[in-house]
Formats: sequence, structure tokens, C-alpha cells
Amino acid sequence: MAINMKGKSLVSINDLTLEEIYQIFDVSKTLKEKKLTGEPHRILEGKTLGMIFSKPSTRTRISFQTGIYQLGGTGMYFGPNDLQLGKSENIHDTAKVLSRYLDGIMIRTFAHQDVVDLARFGSIPVINGLTDLLHPCQVLTDLFTILEKKRTFKGLKLAYLGDGNNMAHSLLHGCSKVGIDITLATPSNYEPDKDIVENAKNNAKIMGSQINIINDPVEAVKDADVIYTDVWASMGQEAEAEERRKHFVKYQVNPDLVKNAKDDYIFMHCLPAHRGDEVVDEVIDSNNSVVFDEAENRLHVQKAIMALVM
Ligand code: CP
Ligand code: NVA
Repeated sequence: MAINMKGKSLVSINDLTLEEIYQIFDVSKTLKEKKLTGEPHRILEGKTLGMIFSKPSTRTRISFQTGIYQLGGTGMYFGPNDLQLGKSENIHDTAKVLSRYLDGIMIRTFAHQDVVDLARFGSIPVINGLTDLLHPCQVLTDLFTILEKKRTFKGLKLAYLGDGNNMAHSLLHGCSKVGIDITLATPSNYEPDKDIVENAKNNAKIMGSQINIINDPVEAVKDADVIYTDVWASMGQEAEAEERRKHFVKYQVNPDLVKNAKDDYIFMHCLPAHRGDEVVDEVIDSNNSVVFDEAENRLHVQKAIMALVM
């Protein structure tokens, strides 16, 4: 039976039950088929999504805006200088006011707490389009893509190489919820948040899967089914890029490293990629790479999320 998710916010994958996660995948699959066959699916006719961006975006902005149009609704973009949010008006008041106009909010910003507060004080669903801490829409899409490519999560081993950042955190949430074994290899001092790791370990116990946080990239990719990486300096860390490069160089995903993975491993990256840093052309442009399917699926999965919660 369908689970009613109307009005629910998506701030973190950890707030979703396993059943809700699978429901998102089911609806994503249906909407993807409808899109590809040209069958209309204007489920959100007359609804408006507010899209708040304090950081730049290619995929998130365009896939949400296109997605809401395809569902029959309207998307309104607000850039970094457009709202009073957190500047001359507190989040509490902004959340209440926006709830009187809109049917849903998608927000990309720096402080995760701002998204938590927006969801808490508003009365409409809030979808997290990336914070310094998490990137749940990306990882739900990544899991959907893994399911398309590998048909199951059971027994899969995902290796994440690089920074213990927002992507690492949401991957820990997502993999542990669905029971994928995940190994993160990061330089020391760039490990993921300890509470998120603990939480993932508890989730993984229920699913009988493994969470490993290590520093050795070769050990991480050994027999991996999925190799995942992300930029070494995230949005807002541009000034640290040079310093970080020194620590991250041995975590580059290149032909030598991927030799340790299974022959049919898939390479994933949320994009944008910094080619020549965390990944080289020979890997990201290889037949093992699924990065553009992953990017396309943002559209289908976010349409499913909007259709379910708005
Ligand atoms: N992967 C992702 O969120 O891309 P954008 O920063 O372009 O939205
Ligand atoms: N870690 C990256 C992800 C971009 C989608 C960042 O926050 O910039």
C-alpha cells in the first residue's frame, strides 16, 4: 500500500524509512518511463515550488525547475541576493511567510541548521538541495542509479574516495539504510562527522552491512562494485583548494587505482568534476562510468520526491 508522504520534508535521508526510500524509487521509475514514452504526468498542476539558492548549481537548479514544469507546476528561483533569509529577517518568519504562498521549498545553502529551521517553522515540505553537511537528493538519485545498473543492493560494495564532506555523509546515510557495504577512504583530518558514522553503523547493523572508515585508497577500492568520488574542495572552500590538493593527491581515481575494483565496477560522481584532480578522463569517460545517467536521474528522482511530498 502506498505510504502517505504528503507534507513531509526531505532534510536528510536518515529521516526516511526504508519503505519510503523504496517508494521514492518506484515512483521515480514510473515517472522516468512516462517521460521517456511521452505520457503526460501533470500531477502537481497549479502548485508552486520556491527554489532558494545561496550557492551556485547546474544540475540541481535545472533538474528541479524542469521537473516541476513537467509535473504541471511552476518553479520560482531565488538567488543569493533575492531574499531577506537570515539577513534582515529571521528564518522563523521567512518560513511562515513562504508557507502562505508556496506549496514546497527547495533550498541549497551553507548552514544545515537553516534547512532544519525552515522545515521546522514552515508548514510546507522543504527539500534539501545541498548544505555543508548533506546532499540527500543526490544520494537518493545515486542509489536509484545503482539499482538500475546492478539490479540489487544486496552484497554490493561501494568505495568512496576523498573528502569526508556532504556527499560522504549522505552516502553513509543512504548506503547504511539500504544495506550497501560502504568503505570511505579519506586523508587523516578529513574524515566524516563522527555522529553520522555512528548513526550509519547503527543503521548498517539492522541491514547486516558494513561501514568502514579508513585512510588507504587501494584497500577501499579492492573488489568494489561502485567507486565514488567528489571534489576535494567543496563550494565555500575554494581558498583551501591548493592546500587540500597536497593531502588528496593519492586519492585520485585513475586507471591504476581502479584495477583493484571488480571488472564490472561502475564509476560515480555527483558532478561537477574537477578532471585531473579527483578523477582523470580515462576513468570518467570510460565504459564503467555512469556519471551522465546519474545526472539525468536527478530529474526523475526529484520529480518523484516532489510528487510524493507536495
Ligand atoms: N551534483 C549537483 O548537485 O550538481 P550542481 O551543484 O550542479 O547542482
Ligand atoms: N561536495 C560538493 C558537492 C557538489 C554537488 C560541494 O558541496 O561543493
